[in-house]
Amino acid sequence: MEKMNVLGIETSCDETSAAVVRNGCEVLSNVVLSQAHLHGPYGGVVPEIASRSHVECLPSVIEEAVQNAGISWSDLDAISVTYGPGLASSLLTGLSAAKGLAVRLSKPLLGINHLKAHIYSAFLGKTGYKIEDAYPFTALVVSGGHTCLVRVDGGDKYKLLGQTIDDAAGEVFDKGASLLGLGYPGGPAIDKVAREGKRDFVDFPRGRQKKMIKRMKGLRLDLCFSFSGLKTALLYYLRDNPPASKDIISSIAASYQEAIVDVLVDRCEKAVGASERLVVGGGVALNSRLRMRLTEFAAKKKVELLLAEPQYCGDNAAMVAGLAGSGSGKTVDAFEADVVPNLSVEI
Ligand code: KG4
Ligand code: ZN
Repeated sequence: MEKMNVLGIETSCDETSAAVVRNGCEVLSNVVLSQAHLHGPYGGVVPEIASRSHVECLPSVIEEAVQNAGISWSDLDAISVTYGPGLASSLLTGLSAAKGLAVRLSKPLLGINHLKAHIYSAFLGKTGYKIEDAYPFTALVVSGGHTCLVRVDGGDKYKLLGQTIDDAAGEVFDKGASLLGLGYPGGPAIDKVAREGKRDFVDFPRGRQKKMIKRMKGLRLDLCFSFSGLKTALLYYLRDNPPASKDIISSIAASYQEAIVDVLVDRCEKAVGASERLVVGGGVALNSRLRMRLTEFAAKKKVELLLAEPQYCGDNAAMVAGLAGSGSGKTVDAFEADVVPNLSVEI
């Protein structure tokens, strides 16, 4: 097979990333520059700061990706870039850089859907297992910006089954960690302290689906998520029971994490039948308790579980270049395209 080297660029949120992936699966380089230290003091991503930092850092991140891949610019066959969903000003930085590069190198420019790239991330680094071999499957995307279940029947057949009506799972981790005084980003912090805690210390609520009915037209209500009640429950719990020790904070964090994980696993159990396939990607897929619970569920129901490898869970450009080079999905001509901050997974 002829070698096809694709450069990927990802700037949809607060990671500046560039990667080179060969033939959709062989990751030659994947440079990810996190901006977490810039947003930490604000407890969440500040769009202005994110886009400014992308502008500053992207050129050197792209150069490093090509250098680490051990190829020259002329060895690139295509440029790919995330054009949505994400923060408008951050997406624009990546798209503009990608357009400039593609013109300069006279290469095609492929626009990639960030949610589909998260789904594709589960196929990176798995030699011999192509996304085409996995259709049909159900995918769970759990990140700081999105929480949804998607049915994938083919490269151009993505159907949204259910999604969150309020916060994304990653946001719930981040806001919970902030209330617990554990810092930002909250997911890794809660994951770490929860290992020492008692998961049944506090009985937190597990979502309120009845409220969803009107807003979730066309989706399966039993596959939708709601986390706002959980966040409020933590706020009131901490107000009424100020934790007096690190051990107690660990147990509250473990109980809070368990409530999030319970809801995520419950929806997967409802969406995926015995002997079917479940694909999981996104930053929250790094969560050790979620990985364990999904693995247990898969073993019990004989479900084939494809969990993205840890280095491809958070935002990264390898998943963008991988999807672009796999030939498996719909891409847009990004010379024509503008950024689409609310791009649906179905497009
Ligand atoms: O996929 P991602 O890098 O960015 C988005 O597309 O949003 O996900 C970032 C989110 C953050 O909310 C972060 O707290 C969460 O993923 N996260 C985790 C863990 N590591 C990162 N959540 C739970 N447990 C973790 N170990
Ligand atoms: Zn993401």
